[in-house]
Amino acid sequence: MTSQQQQSLPVRLHPSNQHPTLRAWTQSHPQLSAAALMYPVFVTDDPNPDAVEPIPTLPGQSRFAAPNALIAHLTPLVALGLQSVILFGVPSRIPKDNHGSAALDPNTPVVLALRALRKHFPQLLLAVDVCLCPYTDHGHCGILTNYDTQALDNDASIAQLANIAVHYAQAGAHIIAPSDMMDNRILAIKRALNNHKLSNVAVMAYSAKFASVFYGPFRDAAKSAPGMGDRKCYQLPPGSRKLARRAIVRDVAEGADMIMVKPGYPYLDVVRDAADLAPDVPVAIYQVSGEYAMLWHGAQAGVYQLKDAVKESLEAGLRAGATILITYYTPMVLQWLKEDQQ
Ligand code: PBG
Repeated sequence: MTSQQQQSLPVRLHPSNQHPTLRAWTQSHPQLSAAALMYPVFVTDDPNPDAVEPIPTLPGQSRFAAPNALIAHLTPLVALGLQSVILFGVPSRIPKDNHGSAALDPNTPVVLALRALRKHFPQLLLAVDVCLCPYTDHGHCGILTNYDTQALDNDASIAQLANIAVHYAQAGAHIIAPSDMMDNRILAIKRALNNHKLSNVAVMAYSAKFASVFYGPFRDAAKSAPGMGDRKCYQLPPGSRKLARRAIVRDVAEGADMIMVKPGYPYLDVVRDAADLAPDVPVAIYQVSGEYAMLWHGAQAGVYQLKDAVKESLEAGLRAGATILITYYTPMVLQWLKEDQQ
């Protein structure tokens, strides 16, 4: 063989692929593990503290009354290795207004849940979604200057979001996760936390949050669909990689401790952008309600086994550059990880 022919020997990948250990060596990212998983949970103010309300659009998921039903639900999961949750309040017995004033009530479901979980599961990492939409009468994520035109008052909104962030941090949240998409809320929240001597509380920015149809089941679960209009003026256009990149860079500059891309599966290029643009903060990927439902119904229809499809989807998120996987499948994945170890 001439050296010319040797040089042109075709590249062969199969030799690196013949054994599980060989395959593990080709991984560019951490393996799927309990530490990567964050479990989104809906918390209600049902007068019956043991109430569990199944959510029809999210098969297998429920809303839990704070604090009893929530603690009962989480106890076996913590035993299985659950390490972090993100809480969503679903208040139904509060007065709603333009400013989302009731979010600052000392006894909202989310605040009751934070206090109780902090006491009951001292090792559990507690993130909390911060947004105005569950507390506003119009259902938008910010304060409006005009109900007819649905124009947002960005400055007033971020001031109120910062108040809510402080309120949740005082109740015991380790991570504040603003999902509202108002401009410059990360800086406003960071400043407010500092001013209240809460600078140890982390902020996870929903930085690249797209105006997605995949939030449908969540709006049902959280009863948070806007009463009029849509969220396209503050959530990102699905085709806009450029705005996503600017949002990521800005939120890191404003002090975000973690950044998030949402939804997950259709936006893995943005996850890779986030990992490249912000290499020094962990990137989270939110596999949202519509993705959960899609994977579920695909399995129901016999397209694949649920376990295989969910694990592949999460693996893809890790490969794209995420460290944190926010998924409603967390309880099932914890169970599967345990089974796989046995
Ligand atoms: C509220 C919020 C939404 C989600 C998380 N926080 C809905 C929205 O912005 O319309 C979606 C989560 C999911 O679909 O699982 N601002």
